[in-house]
Amino acid sequence: MKYKYSPIFLAPMEGVSDLAFRILARECGADFTISEFTSSTALTRGSVKSWTKVSTHSLEKPFIPQIFGGDISEMVKATELLCTNKSVDVIDINFGCPAPKVCKNEAGAALLGNPEKLINMVSACINVSEVPISAKLRLGTGVGEDTALEISKKLEDIGVVRICIHGRTLKQGYRGEANWSKISKIVEAVSIPVIANGDIIDSTSASACLEETGAAGIMIGRGAIGNPHIFYKIKQDLGIINSNPPWVYDNDDWVNYGNIKQDFIARSWCWNRYVELMKITNSENKQSLKRHAISFTKHLPGGSKFRGSLQFIKDIDELTKKVSLWLKEGSVNS
Ligand SMILES: Cc1cc2nc3c(=O)[nH]c(=O)nc-3n(C[C@H](O)[C@H](O)[C@H](O)COP(=O)(O)O)c2cc1C
Repeated sequence: MKYKYSPIFLAPMEGVSDLAFRILARECGADFTISEFTSSTALTRGSVKSWTKVSTHSLEKPFIPQIFGGDISEMVKATELLCTNKSVDVIDINFGCPAPKVCKNEAGAALLGNPEKLINMVSACINVSEVPISAKLRLGTGVGEDTALEISKKLEDIGVVRICIHGRTLKQGYRGEANWSKISKIVEAVSIPVIANGDIIDSTSASACLEETGAAGIMIGRGAIGNPHIFYKIKQDLGIINSNPPWVYDNDDWVNYGNIKQDFIARSWCWNRYVELMKITNSENKQSLKRHAISFTKHLPGGSKFRGSLQFIKDIDELTKKVSLWLKEGSVNS
């Protein structure tokens, strides 16, 4: 393996990786987090919603906002504007989004089909940026040869500090398996850290991915939705940490609990902390709370019936309390 220590990233995920969830993921063992992708067009036009997506709090260190766009001058302007916030440590640029509304503007993963423009864009951002620039790519567009390897070499040449590769093409969307072998070719070809991403859902897949790719670190997306304690679990299984997570008390008979009970206990702590972090960071958002409430109850016995009972609740305090109570009851009774 190329690097001794392999940091674990929470993936940038629209509608998931909000500020409170990012801090929670860090408290659960993630080493780095990246904000949801944010449109450079919207940032340059002063959209409050977009600026909220790239806001941070002193509890979040480092802070890595992610931006995307198809217009180089807007990307440059957004980079300059972000640099006026002294909390920004690194700016990440998205070349992975497959959404048609993004790709039709030659932004996101569509730029993998135009390497020259992609490199010009990143180079222009680096020229004005006061902080390092990283990039997140897919393997290619899925039309013709994959371009990520050539692009990665050029990104290294122009001074990008780190790249993350999601081992799928634009055409694949989220279908099929992530191709870790193609990520390994990129790891071999460049000297900057490469973070491997795609289909890591537990310690077995985490170590298999690190082994196959030789990557400097790994990034977890869907596996962390409703399940931020995955970071702790992986690190514990891999022997990276041996202290108890915050949801385990010294006198607990934790090791003898079944998987379901352990899951209920961890999720119960994580949910309460998520709600608390929203308050602490002044980032309460009804939509995010609702979305996470649903995720936190997935794959638990009785979860589907319980989610049905959440449907008609309008009051957000009532919703958060109901989820807290349900998870607590599950922790005691399972
Ligand atoms: C709901 C959702 C939202 C996403 N939003 C973003 C985003 O804002 N920026 C980005 O670079 N990737 C985004 N992605 C892609 C993930 O970061 C990640 O590359 C992908 O899910 C593969 O990793 P996984 O197999 O661990 O989920 C998103 C994925 C999901 C499922």
